[in-house]
Amino acid sequence: MQMEVPVTELIEKRCSWRSFSGNPLPEQSRTMLEEFLTDPGNPPFGSQTRFGLVDGGVDGAKRVPGTYGIIRGARDFIVGVVQPGPKDLEDYGFLFEKAVLFATGLDLGTCWMGGTLKHTVFADKIRLGENEVLPCICPVGQRAPRRTVLDSVMVIGAGSKKRKGWGESFFDGQFSRPLTKENAGDYALPLEMVRLAPSASNKQPWRILRTQDGFHFFLTRNRAYKNMFKADLQRIDMGIAMCHFDLSAREAGLEGQWVSQAPMLSPMPSSLEYAASWKSSKK
Ligand SMILES: Cc1cc2nc3c(=O)[nH]c(=O)nc-3n(C[C@H](O)[C@H](O)[C@H](O)COP(=O)(O)O)c2cc1C
Repeated sequence: MQMEVPVTELIEKRCSWRSFSGNPLPEQSRTMLEEFLTDPGNPPFGSQTRFGLVDGGVDGAKRVPGTYGIIRGARDFIVGVVQPGPKDLEDYGFLFEKAVLFATGLDLGTCWMGGTLKHTVFADKIRLGENEVLPCICPVGQRAPRRTVLDSVMVIGAGSKKRKGWGESFFDGQFSRPLTKENAGDYALPLEMVRLAPSASNKQPWRILRTQDGFHFFLTRNRAYKNMFKADLQRIDMGIAMCHFDLSAREAGLEGQWVSQAPMLSPMPSSLEYAASWKSSKK
């Protein structure tokens, strides 16, 4: 991602914003964003994705149709679609979050949306193909100076300003042993960037286990999420976490690659689903 600002700064700066000015995107920002969406790079597992900037159909600081009144004043939306496949949603979350961080670098407000949207409204706008699904959208634009009441209610309702501590999310060799920042060495920074990642209802469903082989990403499902939304949003959360880890590790000079090779664990906790592993290129 070609940005002047370090990705760690973008990750720290980003927060969900649902209240927009109603102004069009500055012309230069629009051009840069459109260019980025045309080629956001390769996702870890090669899924076929497509991203576009669509018009929300609203002029001025009004409620945007198809968002249950939650988004106000946004004229432009990033819409992403993916072709179904084995790691489709992780790949989708990974690339879509890159776009969100890119928009953050342009000083634009964003908000991931996978629940409070009418999918058909945006499916029409992106001309959804028969072999594609549309899990999420994201308003993008100049932030209004203050959040609307509904936006503030959403922030408080999801507890959006809080994150789990290291001890709840990161583990060393086995799931009974927390990985501390002090023991994480060079990887303390990429892990901290995962900790700050956005997730649906701020559930932060990722659990990461460090072994001699690398960092293994697991999903702990929140029961309330099962079949609640059109797409499996918690797998998208996992892709977002992978994106933060990947971009900040590479920025720190830690090269590696993503593989799907679950570590041999005994016992394997039944509450966790394996997602992917990061293997360092350093021997
Ligand atoms: C996959 C995904 C789906 C989301 N869907 C919605 C949504 O439908 N409506 C909404 O208002 N916020 C949605 N959010 C925003 C989260 O509530 C927000 O990211 C979380 O509370 C953390 O807050 P932050 O983004 O300000 O750090 C979604 C976030 C993610 C990652």
